[in-house]
Amino acid sequence: MVDRPRTLVTGGAGFVGSHLCERLLLEGHEFVYLDNLTTGSAENVAHLADDPRFELVRHDATLPTSVPGPLDEVYRFASPASPKDFKGMPVEILKAGSLATHNLLELARDKGVRFMLASTSEVYGDPLVHPQHEEYLGNVNPVGVRGAYDEAKRYAEAVTMAYHRRHGVDTKIARIFNTYGPGMRPDDGRMIPNFISQALAGEPLTVYGDGSQTRSVQYVDDLIEGVIRLAKSDEARPVNLGNPV
Ligand SMILES: NC(=O)c1ccc[n+]([C@@H]2O[C@H](COP(=O)([O-])OP(=O)(O)OC[C@H]3O[C@@H](n4cnc5c(N)ncnc54)[C@H](O)[C@@H]3O)[C@@H](O)[C@H]2O)c1
Repeated sequence: MVDRPRTLVTGGAGFVGSHLCERLLLEGHEFVYLDNLTTGSAENVAHLADDPRFELVRHDATLPTSVPGPLDEVYRFASPASPKDFKGMPVEILKAGSLATHNLLELARDKGVRFMLASTSEVYGDPLVHPQHEEYLGNVNPVGVRGAYDEAKRYAEAVTMAYHRRHGVDTKIARIFNTYGPGMRPDDGRMIPNFISQALAGEPLTVYGDGSQTRSVQYVDDLIEGVIRLAKSDEARPVNLGNPV
Protein backbone atom coordinates (compact mmCIF):
# COMPACT_ATOMS: atom_id res chain seq x y z
CA MET A 1 0.00 0.00 0.00
CA VAL A 2 1.30 3.48 -0.93
CA ASP A 3 1.39 5.96 1.94
CA ARG A 4 0.27 9.20 0.30
CA PRO A 5 -1.01 12.26 2.17
CA ARG A 6 -4.79 12.60 1.78
CA THR A 7 -5.61 16.26 1.49
CA LEU A 8 -8.76 18.40 1.39
CA VAL A 9 -8.61 21.53 -0.78
CA THR A 10 -11.68 23.72 -0.46
CA GLY A 11 -12.14 26.10 -3.38
CA GLY A 12 -10.22 23.62 -5.55
CA ALA A 13 -12.05 24.67 -8.73
CA GLY A 14 -11.04 28.31 -8.29
CA PHE A 15 -8.07 30.16 -9.74
CA VAL A 16 -5.59 29.61 -6.90
CA GLY A 17 -7.14 26.33 -5.67
CA SER A 18 -6.77 24.66 -9.08
CA HIS A 19 -3.05 25.50 -9.18
CA LEU A 20 -2.69 24.18 -5.63
CA CYS A 21 -4.39 20.93 -6.68
CA GLU A 22 -1.94 20.55 -9.59
CA ARG A 23 1.05 21.08 -7.31
CA LEU A 24 -0.22 18.67 -4.64
CA LEU A 25 -0.68 15.97 -7.27
CA LEU A 26 2.93 16.52 -8.34
CA GLU A 27 3.99 16.22 -4.69
CA GLY A 28 2.27 12.81 -4.54
CA HIS A 29 -0.86 13.72 -2.60
CA GLU A 30 -4.18 12.11 -3.20
CA PHE A 31 -7.07 14.32 -2.40
CA VAL A 32 -10.58 15.45 -2.30
CA TYR A 33 -11.39 18.92 -3.45
CA LEU A 34 -14.52 20.60 -2.43
CA ASP A 35 -16.23 23.47 -4.19
CA ASN A 36 -19.70 24.92 -4.63
CA LEU A 37 -18.73 26.19 -8.11
CA THR A 38 -20.09 29.70 -7.52
CA THR A 39 -17.06 31.70 -8.64
CA GLY A 40 -14.90 28.73 -9.73
CA SER A 41 -15.38 26.33 -12.61
CA ALA A 42 -14.90 22.59 -13.07
CA GLU A 43 -13.10 23.55 -16.29
CA ASN A 44 -10.18 24.82 -14.19
CA VAL A 45 -9.48 21.25 -13.09
CA ALA A 46 -10.92 19.34 -16.08
CA HIS A 47 -7.39 18.24 -17.08
CA LEU A 48 -6.99 16.53 -13.68
CA ALA A 49 -10.42 14.91 -13.59
CA ASP A 50 -9.28 11.52 -14.92
CA ASP A 51 -6.61 11.14 -12.24
CA PRO A 52 -7.88 8.48 -9.80
CA ARG A 53 -6.20 10.35 -6.90
CA PHE A 54 -8.48 13.33 -7.51
CA GLU A 55 -12.09 13.54 -6.39
CA LEU A 56 -14.52 16.48 -6.63
CA VAL A 57 -17.20 16.86 -4.01
CA ARG A 58 -19.73 19.58 -4.78
CA HIS A 59 -20.46 21.11 -1.40
CA ASP A 60 -20.99 24.47 0.23
CA ALA A 61 -18.30 24.82 2.90
CA THR A 62 -20.51 27.13 4.96
CA LEU A 63 -22.50 23.98 5.81
CA PRO A 64 -21.13 21.31 8.17
CA THR A 65 -18.39 19.46 6.33
CA SER A 66 -17.12 15.93 6.81
CA VAL A 67 -14.66 13.80 4.88
CA PRO A 68 -15.03 10.05 5.34
CA GLY A 69 -11.81 8.13 5.88
CA PRO A 70 -8.33 9.36 6.68
CA LEU A 71 -7.26 12.94 6.17
CA ASP A 72 -3.84 14.59 6.61
CA GLU A 73 -4.34 18.27 5.75
CA VAL A 74 -7.03 20.89 5.15
CA TYR A 75 -6.42 23.84 2.80
CA ARG A 76 -9.17 26.41 3.29
CA PHE A 77 -9.28 28.45 0.05
CA ALA A 78 -13.04 28.58 -0.67
CA SER A 79 -14.28 32.16 -0.84
CA PRO A 80 -15.42 34.64 -3.44
CA ALA A 81 -12.38 36.88 -3.78
CA SER A 82 -12.55 39.38 -6.63
CA PRO A 83 -13.46 43.07 -6.37
CA LYS A 84 -16.68 42.37 -8.30
CA ASP A 85 -17.63 39.81 -5.65
CA PHE A 86 -17.15 42.37 -2.83
CA LYS A 87 -20.16 44.23 -4.20
CA GLY A 88 -22.20 41.30 -5.55
CA MET A 89 -21.65 38.61 -2.88
CA PRO A 90 -20.97 40.35 0.45
CA VAL A 91 -23.11 37.94 2.51
CA GLU A 92 -21.57 34.87 0.83
CA ILE A 93 -18.11 36.31 1.54
CA LEU A 94 -18.87 36.89 5.22
CA LYS A 95 -20.35 33.41 5.56
CA ALA A 96 -17.31 31.89 3.86
CA GLY A 97 -14.95 33.75 6.20
CA SER A 98 -16.91 32.87 9.31
CA LEU A 99 -19.02 29.70 8.96
CA ALA A 100 -16.82 27.86 6.46
CA THR A 101 -13.63 28.64 8.38
CA HIS A 102 -15.23 27.46 11.61
CA ASN A 103 -16.56 24.26 10.00
CA LEU A 104 -13.20 23.41 8.45
CA LEU A 105 -11.32 24.11 11.68
CA GLU A 106 -13.71 21.71 13.41
CA LEU A 107 -12.92 19.13 10.75
CA ALA A 108 -9.15 19.66 11.20
CA ARG A 109 -9.52 19.43 14.96
CA ASP A 110 -11.64 16.27 14.74
CA LYS A 111 -9.10 14.60 12.42
CA GLY A 112 -6.08 16.00 14.30
CA VAL A 113 -4.58 17.47 11.12
CA ARG A 114 -2.94 20.63 9.80
CA PHE A 115 -5.15 23.52 8.65
CA MET A 116 -4.14 26.30 6.28
CA LEU A 117 -6.15 29.49 5.85
CA ALA A 118 -5.93 31.49 2.63
CA SER A 119 -6.08 34.99 4.07
CA THR A 120 -5.27 38.18 2.22
CA SER A 121 -3.32 41.42 2.22
CA GLU A 122 -6.79 43.01 2.42
CA VAL A 123 -6.66 42.43 6.21
CA TYR A 124 -4.47 45.58 6.15
CA GLY A 125 -7.42 47.45 4.61
CA ASP A 126 -6.44 50.87 3.32
CA PRO A 127 -2.96 50.73 4.85
CA LEU A 128 -1.20 53.73 6.30
CA VAL A 129 2.14 51.88 6.31
CA HIS A 130 4.03 50.75 3.17
CA PRO A 131 5.07 48.07 2.62
CA GLN A 132 2.95 46.18 5.15
CA HIS A 133 4.76 43.86 7.53
CA GLU A 134 2.88 41.19 9.46
CA GLU A 135 2.86 43.19 12.72
CA TYR A 136 0.97 46.09 11.11
CA LEU A 137 -2.61 45.96 12.42
CA GLY A 138 -4.28 47.56 9.41
CA ASN A 139 -6.72 50.35 8.69
CA VAL A 140 -10.11 48.83 7.87
CA ASN A 141 -13.52 50.43 7.47
CA PRO A 142 -15.85 47.63 8.66
CA VAL A 143 -18.91 49.13 6.95
CA GLY A 144 -17.35 50.08 3.61
CA VAL A 145 -17.96 48.01 0.45
CA ARG A 146 -14.62 46.22 0.88
CA GLY A 147 -15.41 45.71 4.57
CA ALA A 148 -17.27 42.45 3.89
CA TYR A 149 -14.12 40.86 2.46
CA ASP A 150 -11.63 42.51 4.81
CA GLU A 151 -13.58 41.72 7.96
CA ALA A 152 -14.44 38.18 6.79
CA LYS A 153 -10.72 37.46 6.50
CA ARG A 154 -9.89 39.21 9.77
CA TYR A 155 -12.49 37.06 11.52
CA ALA A 156 -11.14 33.98 9.73
CA GLU A 157 -7.65 34.75 11.06
CA ALA A 158 -9.03 35.33 14.56
CA VAL A 159 -10.93 32.03 14.70
CA THR A 160 -7.92 30.21 13.23
CA MET A 161 -5.64 31.55 16.00
CA ALA A 162 -8.35 30.72 18.58
CA TYR A 163 -8.39 27.07 17.47
CA HIS A 164 -4.60 27.04 17.55
CA ARG A 165 -4.39 28.49 21.07
CA ARG A 166 -7.48 26.86 22.60
CA HIS A 167 -7.46 23.46 20.88
CA GLY A 168 -3.84 23.09 19.76
CA VAL A 169 -4.75 22.73 16.08
CA ASP A 170 -1.67 22.98 13.81
CA THR A 171 -2.67 26.10 11.85
CA LYS A 172 -1.05 28.26 9.17
CA ILE A 173 -2.22 31.65 7.91
CA ALA A 174 -1.14 32.78 4.44
CA ARG A 175 -1.73 36.50 3.81
CA ILE A 176 -1.86 36.42 0.03
CA PHE A 177 -1.09 39.53 -2.03
CA ASN A 178 -2.38 40.10 -5.61
CA THR A 179 -1.75 37.02 -7.69
CA TYR A 180 -2.09 36.50 -11.44
CA GLY A 181 -1.81 33.62 -13.87
CA PRO A 182 -3.75 31.17 -16.03
CA GLY A 183 -7.30 30.43 -14.86
CA MET A 184 -8.20 33.93 -13.66
CA ARG A 185 -11.64 35.10 -14.71
CA PRO A 186 -11.12 37.71 -17.45
CA ASP A 187 -13.95 39.84 -16.02
CA ASP A 188 -13.16 39.64 -12.30
CA GLY A 189 -12.18 43.29 -12.00
CA ARG A 190 -8.55 42.80 -10.96
CA MET A 191 -5.76 44.82 -12.54
CA ILE A 192 -3.93 42.19 -14.63
CA PRO A 193 -7.01 40.56 -16.27
CA ASN A 194 -8.44 44.06 -16.84
CA PHE A 195 -5.27 45.16 -18.66
CA ILE A 196 -5.06 41.93 -20.68
CA SER A 197 -8.75 41.95 -21.67
CA GLN A 198 -8.55 45.60 -22.71
CA ALA A 199 -5.30 45.07 -24.63
CA LEU A 200 -6.76 42.06 -26.48
CA ALA A 201 -9.84 44.11 -27.37
CA GLY A 202 -7.63 46.98 -28.60
CA GLU A 203 -9.05 49.29 -25.91
CA PRO A 204 -7.20 51.83 -23.75
CA LEU A 205 -5.94 50.43 -20.43
CA THR A 206 -7.85 51.79 -17.43
CA VAL A 207 -5.80 53.07 -14.50
CA TYR A 208 -7.97 54.04 -11.54
CA GLY A 209 -7.33 57.07 -9.32
CA ASP A 210 -4.44 59.38 -10.14
CA GLY A 211 -2.12 56.56 -11.15
CA SER A 212 0.23 57.04 -8.20
CA GLN A 213 -0.97 53.91 -6.36
CA THR A 214 1.23 50.83 -6.12
CA ARG A 215 0.40 47.12 -6.26
CA SER A 216 2.40 44.05 -5.35
CA VAL A 217 1.72 41.33 -7.93
CA GLN A 218 3.06 37.79 -7.97
CA TYR A 219 2.77 34.91 -10.41
CA VAL A 220 0.61 32.07 -9.19
CA ASP A 221 3.40 29.45 -9.28
CA ASP A 222 5.43 31.61 -6.86
CA LEU A 223 2.43 31.89 -4.55
CA ILE A 224 1.90 28.11 -4.57
CA GLU A 225 5.58 27.58 -3.75
CA GLY A 226 5.12 29.90 -0.77
CA VAL A 227 1.95 28.08 0.31
CA ILE A 228 3.69 24.71 0.24
CA ARG A 229 6.74 26.01 2.14
CA LEU A 230 4.52 27.65 4.75
CA ALA A 231 2.48 24.45 5.13
CA LYS A 232 5.69 22.56 5.92
CA SER A 233 6.98 25.20 8.37
CA ASP A 234 6.44 25.56 12.11
CA GLU A 235 5.06 29.10 11.77
CA ALA A 236 1.54 29.59 13.21
CA ARG A 237 1.58 33.41 12.95
CA PRO A 238 0.35 35.05 9.72
CA VAL A 239 2.88 35.17 6.87
CA ASN A 240 2.73 37.61 3.94
CA LEU A 241 3.00 35.87 0.55
CA GLY A 242 3.66 38.38 -2.18
CA ASN A 243 6.21 40.12 -4.31
CA PRO A 244 8.45 42.42 -2.24
CA VAL A 245 9.39 44.66 -5.20
N1 LIG B 1 -6.26 35.61 -6.27
C1 LIG B 1 -5.72 36.48 -5.44
O1 LIG B 1 -5.00 37.41 -5.87
C2 LIG B 1 -5.94 36.33 -3.97
C3 LIG B 1 -5.37 37.31 -3.12
C4 LIG B 1 -5.57 37.19 -1.75
C5 LIG B 1 -6.27 36.12 -1.22
N2 LIG B 1 -6.83 35.19 -2.06
C6 LIG B 1 -7.59 34.11 -1.45
O2 LIG B 1 -7.33 32.87 -2.09
C7 LIG B 1 -8.53 32.10 -2.14
C8 LIG B 1 -8.84 31.71 -3.58
O3 LIG B 1 -9.00 32.91 -4.35
P1 LIG B 1 -9.18 32.85 -5.94
O4 LIG B 1 -8.62 34.09 -6.51
O5 LIG B 1 -8.71 31.54 -6.45
O6 LIG B 1 -10.77 32.97 -6.08
P2 LIG B 1 -11.77 32.06 -6.95
O7 LIG B 1 -13.09 32.76 -6.89
O8 LIG B 1 -11.20 31.80 -8.31
O9 LIG B 1 -11.81 30.70 -6.15
C9 LIG B 1 -12.60 30.52 -5.01
C10 LIG B 1 -13.25 29.15 -5.11
O10 LIG B 1 -14.03 28.91 -3.92
C11 LIG B 1 -15.30 28.40 -4.29
N3 LIG B 1 -16.23 28.77 -3.23
C12 LIG B 1 -16.66 30.01 -2.88
N4 LIG B 1 -17.50 29.93 -1.82
C13 LIG B 1 -17.58 28.61 -1.49
C14 LIG B 1 -18.28 27.89 -0.49
N5 LIG B 1 -19.08 28.53 0.40
N6 LIG B 1 -18.16 26.54 -0.46
C15 LIG B 1 -17.38 25.89 -1.35
N7 LIG B 1 -16.68 26.51 -2.32
C16 LIG B 1 -16.79 27.86 -2.39
C17 LIG B 1 -15.61 29.04 -5.63
O11 LIG B 1 -16.57 28.33 -6.40
C18 LIG B 1 -14.23 29.05 -6.30
O12 LIG B 1 -13.98 27.84 -7.00
C19 LIG B 1 -9.63 32.94 -1.52
O13 LIG B 1 -9.81 32.55 -0.16
C20 LIG B 1 -9.08 34.35 -1.60
O14 LIG B 1 -9.61 35.17 -0.58
C21 LIG B 1 -6.67 35.28 -3.42
